[in-house]
Amino acid sequence: MTERFYITTAIDYPNGSPHMGHAYEKTVTDCYARWYRMMGREVRFLTGTDENGQKLMEAAKTAGAKSTMSYVDENVKIFRSLCDAEGPHALNLSNDDFIRTTEDRHKATCTRLWNLLEKAGDIHFDRYSGDYCLDCEAFYTKVQAPEGVCPNHGKALSKKEEDGYFFRMSRYEGWIKEFLRANPTFIVPEGARKELLSRLDQEPLRDLSISRPSEGWGIPIPSNPKYVMYTWFDALINYLAAVDTDTLRFWWPASVHVIGRDIAWFHCVIWPIMLHAAGIELPKQVYVHGMVLGQDGRKMSKSLGNGVDPFQMLEKYGGESFRYFILRAISSTQDGPFVEKDLVARHNNELANDYGNLLMRVVKFAEKKLGTTLARGEAKQEITFQETLARMQEHMDHREHHRAIDALWEKVAEANQYINTTAPWSIKDNPARLHEVIYNALHAIHCLGNLISPFLPITGARTLASLGTSADGPAGIIFGSQVFKLSTPEALFPKIETAPKGTPA
Ligand code: ME8
Repeated sequence: MTERFYITTAIDYPNGSPHMGHAYEKTVTDCYARWYRMMGREVRFLTGTDENGQKLMEAAKTAGAKSTMSYVDENVKIFRSLCDAEGPHALNLSNDDFIRTTEDRHKATCTRLWNLLEKAGDIHFDRYSGDYCLDCEAFYTKVQAPEGVCPNHGKALSKKEEDGYFFRMSRYEGWIKEFLRANPTFIVPEGARKELLSRLDQEPLRDLSISRPSEGWGIPIPSNPKYVMYTWFDALINYLAAVDTDTLRFWWPASVHVIGRDIAWFHCVIWPIMLHAAGIELPKQVYVHGMVLGQDGRKMSKSLGNGVDPFQMLEKYGGESFRYFILRAISSTQDGPFVEKDLVARHNNELANDYGNLLMRVVKFAEKKLGTTLARGEAKQEITFQETLARMQEHMDHREHHRAIDALWEKVAEANQYINTTAPWSIKDNPARLHEVIYNALHAIHCLGNLISPFLPITGARTLASLGTSADGPAGIIFGSQVFKLSTPEALFPKIETAPKGTPA
């Protein structure tokens, strides 16, 4: 039986259009889903939207919407358009499901989990006061916010005092510390795990306020509909809710939750405790990615004016170049800036020159000199991809997709070098050697087209189409099995002009 791989993104707040962080996280998650699918695993990829928060109600009011629901419905359409395979904002995501937390299936699982925790004696009614950030919908302690300012939004926290239901997290402090220490790969990267453990060591784990007085928006508390569930409590449950049916339950536990650093505490401390207390298996891993920064190296934010609109970038450069930049130029575990001119430079140098030209020059030359059909014949193998595949697999398993692409690009360089050194255009009187060189070059391009597909799916498909082969994953790197049926490719990455012609450099 193949090992299942259930991967999720965080669910996004649809209180506006998707921002760069959303586009980034979805692209990253998609490359893992596609990679493991290519490697023969049974994969399920979930994304969605987080709709029950108070701040959506506020945003709908500010926008003058007819109702919170109609406001959210409109925005969710835009979030969904990121998943499309084609269209001006398509990121071409291979998600199998899209969950909205206003759906009945989500509400049902939240109610089920609430009841389980209540039954276990882990929910109690109390009064709470503390420093609150409406944007995060979270309370902050003095250790987290000594100046009374939200560490994520930089805004002053407000005092909030209310009655409500509490989840007895304090009871599990010893357990979570022990669990995180005993399971070093539960949180990737190691730095994120250390940070969380150090926070756990610095201050006692307090019970968590998990309800808000109902204002008619949110999931009602089963035994007391005057209250709704705290939006973070319900949001985390989406991962389980999406597979909480008789036909899908076998997908649980999730293999990887992909999330950003700002929400690591919720996923690595609160969520495991909720599941453990309810007697439900824990996800196997939380992969904490870095943050996309503005060009100035600071966190992207409206107030700093350093934000970049992903839709504008997608319209200007297309999904493939956008995906490439995000996946290769930003380290998988660290913060990194989104710099438009770097995207253009990588498009021109790495995609157009290194990759696109390789395909174009080899296929055109082969068609001209050897015709459109090429089988191995007597050709001996001169370029191998076994080691590259193994290295890429290792990097992907360590959630280091940028390194996997680096390894692939070494092969792009090697294939170009192979053509330059063997110089097929100068082989005049040795048809067998010419055939051997061209067959090897086409084999290399077939391997590249295959292995690039999880990262750049359209590029992979177009590459293979011009060779007349199809995606065959790891099997495709075995030399000799392909019979190439060539057709002249369209330019995959037309160069982007960086300065008007005639402008002095
Ligand atoms: O936090 N760079 O939603 P969200 C990279 N609804 N990733 C970023 C980013 C950036 N600049 N900014 C945000 C929420 N993100 C909750 C999640 S999950 C049960 C509930 C990431 O719309 C962020 O870290 O604010 C998170 O993983 C995702 O985008 C959604 O953020």
